[in-house]
Amino acid sequence: MKVIKTSNYREMSSLAARLFLTQIQIKKHPVIALPTGSTPLGLYEELIRYHKECNKSYANIITFNLDEYYPIKKEDSNSYYQFMMRNFFNHVDIKKENIFIPNGECSDPLKEAKEYEQKIKNHKGIDLAILGVGVNGHIGFNEPGTLIDETHLTDISSSTARENSRFFNNILEVPTQAITMGMKTIASAEKIIILANGSKKMDIVDKISKGNIDENYPATLLNNHKNATLIYTPYER
Ligand code: F6R
Repeated sequence: MKVIKTSNYREMSSLAARLFLTQIQIKKHPVIALPTGSTPLGLYEELIRYHKECNKSYANIITFNLDEYYPIKKEDSNSYYQFMMRNFFNHVDIKKENIFIPNGECSDPLKEAKEYEQKIKNHKGIDLAILGVGVNGHIGFNEPGTLIDETHLTDISSSTARENSRFFNNILEVPTQAITMGMKTIASAEKIIILANGSKKMDIVDKISKGNIDENYPATLLNNHKNATLIYTPYER
């Protein structure tokens, strides 16, 4: 794992944006995995800026989001569908038919997870996975102790529910399950960029940087990936 420490959040985000822009030129239709959360907001803002001010087009890219709560309505302001529309997709030229997000309002989440994985396979896998990491080391909703798996339905751990409850009225409103791309699918990506910022993420940054692999910290499962970069800063946004 290549590890890059930046001097602030802005630098972390613009470096990630530059790597993203380089990567999408390599292939005609690059397939990119995208996270939600606070960490990638600066990256999305930077990509929107490149689109608006420098005419950068993302019309050739195909995106697969890492995860979605289950169950949740698309219109729910806390759905990852709404998050992505609000913070990225509504402001750029990615084609609607090239945007994939697990469907949190489906009636059969096991089938949905299987079909999502198949769609990724139909696109020949992920070229670039951009990832955020939880304080407990989760990636997507691959929680501590997770199996190295394909896209699946999973329970949300109490520590992640607590972390994410900041967006809800209270912790009881946080959905108890999610559909998430699995660590096997993520680890199969050609290139991986993990972003982390803020003092509370420094323990997990340390664990990833040391190169150990520990299934209690799912992010460390990516430590033997051949083309992975961790970009971090101890500072908040
Ligand atoms: C969400 C995701 C999660 C987040 C993680 C960190 O799609 O993939 O792994 O990246 O929960 O969240 P923030 O960035 O809010 O600290």
